[in-house]
Amino acid sequence: MVYVIIGMSTHPTLEPTAPEGRHMSEDRTSGNPSDAKVAFITGVARGQGRSHALHFARAGVAVIGLDICGQVDSVDYPMSSELDLADTVAEVEAAGGRILARVGDVRNLDDVKSALRDGVAAFGRLDYVVANAGIMPIWGRYANTMQSWQDCLDVILTGVLNTIEASYPILVEQGAGGSIVITGSMAAVQPMMRTLDGHTLGLLGYSAAKAALVNLSENYASALAGHGIRVNIVHPTGVATPMIENDMCRSRFDNANPEDLKTIVNALPTDKVQPRDVSELVVWLCSDRSRYLTGGAIRVDAGAKLR
Ligand SMILES: NC(=O)c1ccc[n+]([C@@H]2O[C@H](COP(=O)([O-])OP(=O)(O)OC[C@H]3O[C@@H](n4cnc5c(N)ncnc54)[C@H](O)[C@@H]3O)[C@@H](O)[C@H]2O)c1
Repeated sequence: MVYVIIGMSTHPTLEPTAPEGRHMSEDRTSGNPSDAKVAFITGVARGQGRSHALHFARAGVAVIGLDICGQVDSVDYPMSSELDLADTVAEVEAAGGRILARVGDVRNLDDVKSALRDGVAAFGRLDYVVANAGIMPIWGRYANTMQSWQDCLDVILTGVLNTIEASYPILVEQGAGGSIVITGSMAAVQPMMRTLDGHTLGLLGYSAAKAALVNLSENYASALAGHGIRVNIVHPTGVATPMIENDMCRSRFDNANPEDLKTIVNALPTDKVQPRDVSELVVWLCSDRSRYLTGGAIRVDAGAKLR
């Protein structure tokens, strides 16, 4: 895999807007970019990952970003491109932030380590990790294949494993704590397959991998607690990103047995949340406002669990 540095600016740290505390607040008060906190975000080229990068940038946090910028074969909607990644870089820089963005695959531990190595060399440290990259080959032409099942396990589960395996030794070595946030799904909380009309191997792989992330999160949370490193998982309901705003999903939403869409039927009067609704929680989970919250699973589900 050839890596490309898409962009890296040297804007100063933003003024403080957050509460006092050890993590996100210190960088904002120093005004010195070399002291600024640094977040590593996977799946940063678009959707929630881009939104997280922008929210961190506005909080004065530098971003190390990674995205595959290409297609996984079993996915029947368009995935991101290098143009998307370039747009993320441009938006972060326009917001006054700093970002080092790389093309790479979370399934490949070397890709993750390499991006982190260069990012830490550029920004001097690592404080927050957002394991966000994911795919959703649950419907569409290839959904009922073993390849879809395997791709879900490889990207969603092994990808998050690789992200944390590459990150936590850096946090431990620094000795300054940290916060790791994993992106789960309501598919981890309740069954997506409600009838056999909804059966696909990809859907089962997506659900099983997201559910396994809860276990991974708790294991790392337990083992890293003594180092002041917190680990939490967030479970969004449907989020308005290209993962669901595409022809594959629109066709499914129009034709599915309503019973099989219940996992993402919300109680609050909205059919989906916005990326910023998840970003606000992610940034909060990295701030000292949540300093004693670890091993948690938090839903941003507009009440979907109630339905
Ligand atoms: N959109 C939703 O409705 C929804 C709901 C619940 C959970 N999620 C989860 O949220 C996370 C973010 O998804 P999104 O909604 O922003 O979708 P998205 O498709 O817009 O963004 C996902 C990003 O991850 C990247 N990616 C995929 N595989 C990768 C790999 N192997 N290596 C590196 N990067 C890779 C993609 O290229 C893309 O840029 C995913 O984990 C997804 O499962 C999404």
